[in-house]
Amino acid sequence: MKRLPVALCCLLATLAARAGEGFHAESFHARNCTGCHDTSVYTRPDRRVNSLPRLESQVRMCDANLGIKLLDDEIEALVDYLNRNFYKLAR
Ligand code: HEC
Repeated sequence: MKRLPVALCCLLATLAARAGEGFHAESFHARNCTGCHDTSVYTRPDRRVNSLPRLESQVRMCDANLGIKLLDDEIEALVDYLNRNFYKLAR
């Protein structure tokens, strides 16, 4: 029965990751958001996003492409992560 605790732990981690509070924008991004483009699209000179509302709608579009259906506060956490690390748009 050595495997049971491991499975339980993974299940709990998955649930926590979906619960908003345990959502880690940085690791989520690294795992799910770098398949189609890398982070250079966020800082290229002709990037398309130039305001926070645009950043949010772009994140929603990419989420829709992925089919993950993130919760609103997860979208918000991702927007915040991208803005703090790449976009640096004024609030
Ligand atoms: C299914 C492929 C795909 C996945 C997965 C994906 N994206 Fe994108 N993303 C795109 C495409 C295509 C563009 C447009 C690139 C371009 O204009 O050259 C884009 C552009 C963007 C931009 C705008 C870049 C700019 O020009 O300012 C942001 C921000 C972004 N994605 C965020 C995300 C985030 C966050 C995730 C993870 C939730 C994600 N993407 C996952 C396809 C994807």
